[in-house]
Formats: sequence, structure tokens, C-alpha cells
Amino acid sequence: MQIKSDNITWQQSAISKLDRQALNQHKSCVLWLTGLSGSGKSSIATELDRRFYSRKIRSYVLDGDNIRHGLNKNLGFSPEDRKENIRRIGEVSKLFVDAGLFTITAFISPYLEDREMVRHMFREGEFIEIYVSCPIEECEKRDPKGLYQKARNGEIKEFTGISSPYESPRNPELVIETDKLTINQSVDKIMQFLQEKKLI
Ligand code: ADX
Repeated sequence: MQIKSDNITWQQSAISKLDRQALNQHKSCVLWLTGLSGSGKSSIATELDRRFYSRKIRSYVLDGDNIRHGLNKNLGFSPEDRKENIRRIGEVSKLFVDAGLFTITAFISPYLEDREMVRHMFREGEFIEIYVSCPIEECEKRDPKGLYQKARNGEIKEFTGISSPYESPRNPELVIETDKLTINQSVDKIMQFLQEKKLI
């Protein structure tokens, strides 16, 4: 995206990302959860955040439903608005990673191209795409917010998986099958991955 404003100059900060990581005594990166509504992204994000906290690891969750109440309240669910939603969250995540945090994002982020755009904002190894995989039939059965029912009744337009596409990740760092694992087992798997990569 083109910068609209003229006469702006980058201000270098005195403290680098490495300085902040050294202070925190851990690395920082983004854990990008993608998957259908009802697949378990928010539940995993919440439990992951709790696990980090209990290990004195600094983290923060950016969650689609919450961010759409504030920062992104002017966006809907058209492909263009979803792209802008994901672009902004990519930029916010970049700031949080720069601030030395494990940044957990929970957005459907249905388009391959939009997720790749965010991946390219980060250095190699800093963007960890986690596909929260669950068959749509199971998500629809769970229907925690009653939205699938509304989408079937035609009360919600452009609903992901029903009347709007979801493009599965081709090469995610991790796949979590929530129809086979509990939330705790899912989070165990993510923590194990982070340990193997020496991120925690
Ligand atoms: S994204 O596609 O732009 O990444 P995001 O994760 O921010 O979506 O928001 C998805 C949440 O908004 C869902 O969990 C659901 O609660 C709600 N929602 C409302 N309308 C829709 C819709 N048309 N499609 C998908 N989710 C919707």
C-alpha cells in the first residue's frame, strides 16, 4: 500500500528489539492463528496467553471479535475490508513483536494472499502460521455464537465457510486439529513447537 502523506521521516528508537528481548529474557514473534469461525482460535489463544503468563513470558492476544469493537470497528466482511483488517493487524503485530512480546492473533484471515502479505512484513522465523483446522460440519455443530444458524437462514451475508471462502494454508508452520485435540493438548503442541525452535 502506498504511503499517502508527504514529508514524513522515520524516527529511530533508542532501544532496539534485541534490547527489549534481552530485558525480557525471551524472544518475540507472532503466532498467527487462522481457521474457520468456531474452530477454536480464541480458546487456544486465551489458554496460550495464560501459559505464557505463568512462565513469566510476556504476551498479548489480538482477537478478531475484540479488535472489531475498536481499532477495526469501521470494517465489515467484504474481501476488501477483511484485507484491511488483516493488514492493520499485521502492522500492529509488527509493533508488538518489536516491543518484545509473543503476539498471538486470532483472526479467520481467510485469504492466502492476505496472510502472505503479513508474513512478508516479518523476518524469517518471526511469523508462525498456525492452522487451527476443524471440519466445517464440526464448527457448525459447535456454533458457539449461533452465527452459522443465522448464516444458513440468510441473516448474515458473506459468512466464512457458507457464503464466503476460506483458503486453507498451504505450508503453515503448524497444524492443530481441534476436532481431535482438546484445547490443552493443542496448546501443549504449540509450546512444544516453540521449545523445539528455541523461542522459549
Ligand atoms: S476476518 O475474516 O476478517 O479475519 P475476523 O477474525 O476479524 O474475520 O472476525 C471474525 C468473527 O466475526 C467471527 O468469529 C464471527 O464471530 C464474526 N462474524 C460476523 N460476521 C461474520 C462473517 N460474515 N464472516 C465471518 N465471521 C463473521
